[in-house]
Amino acid sequence: MSDRWYEKAVVYCLDIDSFADADGDGCGDIRGLIGRLDYLARLGINCLWLNPIHPSPGQDDGYDVTDFYNVDPRFGNLGDFAELLHEAGNRGIKVIIDLVVNHTSDKHPWFQSARKSADSPYRDWYVWSETAPADRNQGMVFPGEQAETWTYDRTAKLWYYHRFYKFQPDLNIKNPAVREEIKKICSFWLQLGVAGFRMDAVPFIIEETEPGNSDAPKDLAFLTELRQHVQWRKGDAVLLAEANVEPDQLVKFFGDDGGSGNRIHMLFDFMLNARLVLGLAREDPEPIIDALRDTPKLPEGGQWATFLRNHDEIDLSRLTADQRKDVFARFGPDENMQLYGRGIRRRLAPMLGNDRRWLELAYALQFSLRGTPVLRYGEEIGMGDDLSLDGRDAIRTPMQWSQLPNGGFTTADPKLLGRPVITGGEFGYETVNVTAQRHDTTSLLSWFERMIRTLREAPEVGCGTCSHVDVPAPRGVLVHRADDHTGTMLFVHNLGTEAGVVDLSSLAGEAEFPNDVLADQEYPEPGKLDAIRVEGHGYRWIRLRRTA
Ligand code: NOJ
Repeated sequence: MSDRWYEKAVVYCLDIDSFADADGDGCGDIRGLIGRLDYLARLGINCLWLNPIHPSPGQDDGYDVTDFYNVDPRFGNLGDFAELLHEAGNRGIKVIIDLVVNHTSDKHPWFQSARKSADSPYRDWYVWSETAPADRNQGMVFPGEQAETWTYDRTAKLWYYHRFYKFQPDLNIKNPAVREEIKKICSFWLQLGVAGFRMDAVPFIIEETEPGNSDAPKDLAFLTELRQHVQWRKGDAVLLAEANVEPDQLVKFFGDDGGSGNRIHMLFDFMLNARLVLGLAREDPEPIIDALRDTPKLPEGGQWATFLRNHDEIDLSRLTADQRKDVFARFGPDENMQLYGRGIRRRLAPMLGNDRRWLELAYALQFSLRGTPVLRYGEEIGMGDDLSLDGRDAIRTPMQWSQLPNGGFTTADPKLLGRPVITGGEFGYETVNVTAQRHDTTSLLSWFERMIRTLREAPEVGCGTCSHVDVPAPRGVLVHRADDHTGTMLFVHNLGTEAGVVDLSSLAGEAEFPNDVLADQEYPEPGKLDAIRVEGHGYRWIRLRRTA
């Protein structure tokens, strides 16, 4: 059996400031998170991904760092962080942190020094141009919120490059000192005990930017260099990258052209994410079947990270215009639900009309597809969004723990909160909260606990192959299977609302005692593989084979 822990992990992503506040100042903190580790252990997750933890002016929710060697004082101190690692470790939970090294905050002492003098040792840590680059109005990641990618700095009397907001100047990866610093940052946190990094904006980190060249070369070799360094410092450390690039480019991020898996271990599967959402919108598994078919072969040790929602908008930019139109029509019909013309700034529960059957179907499907599932805080209780907040803040409201004021997130005066707790209505904390769902064995939270436990008994999902099974089935039904030397699981998911019958008789020889290990309701046991029924939005996880 594979002993690569990340292939069998269930990752839970959270932002410390929105999770749990122990000191009552209105901002979540590390001690608050430590107090909730038992909750996370019971849920069954075994890897935490923390959104940026470093000191930051907070202009991009922490993705604008001013000190890579510390934790944001609002969250606690390094002692608290070491305590968190220890307590999480006691519960079998590994911790990975966001590594945001494409850029710094413009308030970072490096940039402040760099802009002030041509003699600053940090001047060449950033990317400058003496003249206005012709391509300065191209390549914005946040169109509408970001006017350009080069901004004139009056102090330096030069233009500086920023792939993201103008307060996020890009670091210059061509500079060996920058490369060494990034490695030193990794070493520091590995030494403290993190299990790896979620690397932000990887295609941009390796961009060898030149003014006027909007198609700058990419230094993929830096990823090899970084992987070697990280692996040497901590053998089982993992790099999980955000690299939302063209599908034919993806494999290079895993390893060099020989396919040797010597770069990033795990990549978020953005393509699958968009196609999952399209499949749900159209009630049609075809886009998912396409995604499984088009998945490039990964090098040894390469792994996908699957997700339905993350802390950003759902990015639909890699869908065709027609596909995008269908997703917007179904899940983001109001302009206020859309972002940057390419995405949806909603949580999944409101997108799916808070329909419990539909939600189960969606998550059962995500967790059954190849790769390591990533869940974002609040998804397990079906939290909603707050579209009155700006941009991506709509989906970053505090965790809803109980019916206590502020949903039990904090005892502070609500006026002190950075983002308000969702209050009242279908998704308010009075209705949607952990405590209520914990007492209810039929709740979504209880279902997630069961589902994750079941997944734990099916290592072939994370470690094995995943393929579409072409059998007679109604239009909305996806049948797929996961195989490895430990066994085989068969999955039937009905994306449509009509019940139907799936003919599994061609697989009859494969299982002596097939049985449902997870399903939307009690079905007559398959007993043998034959015609089986699946309800609208129903699903059946069937174990076919298990080797001792
Ligand atoms: C990607 C992150 O997911 C996003 O939240 C952030 O704004 C940008 N990178 C810039 O760091």
